[in-house]
Amino acid sequence: MPVIRFVREGRDVECYPGENLREVALREGIELYGLKGKLGNCGGCGQCITCFVDVEGAPDAALTAPTAVEVQKLRRRPQGWRLACQALVQQSLAVVTRPQAGLADRDALLAEALSRPLPPGPLAWPTPVEAEPEDPEAGVEAGGTTTSDEANAEAPQGR
Ligand code: FES
Repeated sequence: MPVIRFVREGRDVECYPGENLREVALREGIELYGLKGKLGNCGGCGQCITCFVDVEGAPDAALTAPTAVEVQKLRRRPQGWRLACQALVQQSLAVVTRPQAGLADRDALLAEALSRPLPPGPLAWPTPVEAEPEDPEAGVEAGGTTTSDEANAEAPQGR
């Protein structure tokens, strides 16, 4: 499972691959929003641009590619910033929440966070398990009797 290393909070949080970064943070009680976002945010629609995170140093594949709305909304923000509500976690990464608020010793904290190993998370998405082909003998129990489902299906309908 991928691990999100929240640098400001000093916490590592596991999540499922494909989970939304904003939802993981909120579930874990991580404060994503500054004052403006606390007073009112869009609930994860990509419209309020208050859920900034800085993912500088993260592998490109750690998050899904920026969405079109995210590219448009972040065009004047530093490279490495993402909108947490638009990013799905694919691999482990370190994240600085509320980068707009500043963080004393940010560079040192981020370097330290990136120096400690993180599990890579899944290297590939799980492939769906193929369903077994239907067995025509399925449902016929030993001795040639049928299951109750088949008996019900064969029972006369009506009345
Ligand atoms: S929560 Fe509004 S843009 Fe992310």
